[in-house]
Amino acid sequence: METLGAAIIGCGAIGPIHAEAVANLSQGKLVAVVDPKKERRERLGIQYDCKAYETYEQVLQNPEVKIIHICTPHYLHVPMAIKGILAGKHVLIEKPLGMNLKEVDEMKKVLLAHPQMYAGVIFQNRYNETSQKAKQMIEHHELGEILGLKGIVTWYRSESYYRESDWRGKWTTEGGGVLINQAIHTLDLLQWLGGKIKQIKGRVDTRSLQDVIEVEDTSEATFYYENKTRGIFYATNSYTDNSSVEIEIHGTQGKLTLREGQLIFSRDGKSHILEQDQGVKKGKPYWGSAHQKQIEDFYQCIINNKPYPISVQEAGIAIEMIQGIYESHRTGKPYTMQYV
Ligand SMILES: NC(=O)c1ccc[n+]([C@@H]2O[C@H](COP(=O)([O-])OP(=O)(O)OC[C@H]3O[C@@H](n4cnc5c(N)ncnc54)[C@H](O)[C@@H]3O)[C@@H](O)[C@H]2O)c1
Repeated sequence: METLGAAIIGCGAIGPIHAEAVANLSQGKLVAVVDPKKERRERLGIQYDCKAYETYEQVLQNPEVKIIHICTPHYLHVPMAIKGILAGKHVLIEKPLGMNLKEVDEMKKVLLAHPQMYAGVIFQNRYNETSQKAKQMIEHHELGEILGLKGIVTWYRSESYYRESDWRGKWTTEGGGVLINQAIHTLDLLQWLGGKIKQIKGRVDTRSLQDVIEVEDTSEATFYYENKTRGIFYATNSYTDNSSVEIEIHGTQGKLTLREGQLIFSRDGKSHILEQDQGVKKGKPYWGSAHQKQIEDFYQCIINNKPYPISVQEAGIAIEMIQGIYESHRTGKPYTMQYV
């Protein structure tokens, strides 16, 4: 049985979730972890009995490492992914793929020149049982014609959240605010479930963290889909608590609501639960529990030589939606999606 050696780059909040997921795989083996912070890398290195490197270059030189998990601040994602691919490693990148469309483009060019290499992006919420069931129902036309979608993210991020990790809250290192960091999962689900978007009108603002961050903490948008479906979206880090994300899909034959790990079907004033997310919750409750499934899928696609669904092309759509919202805010006009 083929076993793929892996390295986790970045041992902050999310790195340990990847380390545990790899350790749980029958066809994965954690070979190394990397972090410039000694205490962080040594803690994980001891826990998983693997090498603990100070620099990324040490991983690139280790032939045992076949897959690199990029769990670093946003500004390092694309540069690290490109270096990894050029060194002959497959890369699994935490969201967001990159900070903007220019970076997405650079990744696409490198992958065109190295078509044998896998590059995947983490959008673990697509792997939730509830999301999978909703997607299947839409594809089987069980809701009739889809008229509208709604995505609402009302979360709380404190001053200390931004002050403790100095890359957050800045254009050059985070690439944006609530849109690119917290709400990107919801943006991705809105396009994955709702289909191709033609135009976007959106606004951004900073409502409670003006003295702390450069980027937006609040945004709203309307998505005009190609098939006449309309999507509405609101996201903020300015609430006082982390409420469950809510996504609604409204069809002529009923409505689906994804909320609190449940999928609820409503029609004619009656509602019932159709599906519930399973799995052990690791990390923060609002991260969901599907990292393990998504990471396993990535390894299985490589081993079985199958295309990986959340490719650079696919994950780049959410980046274009974000740029579309910024662009529409700047011009006051709708942004037309390019899907290049
Ligand atoms: N999918 C999810 O639900 C989810 C949840 C949380 C975070 N994330 C994403 O994971 C990534 C990391 O976020 P985080 O919250 O863990 O951040 P963090 O700041 O807690 O951790 C980042 C780590 O990267 C390390 N690092 C910095 N430069 C490095 C380098 N050159 N080489 C190796 N390591 C380096 C830092 O020292 C730090 O330990 C971000 O892209 C974030 O958006 C995703």
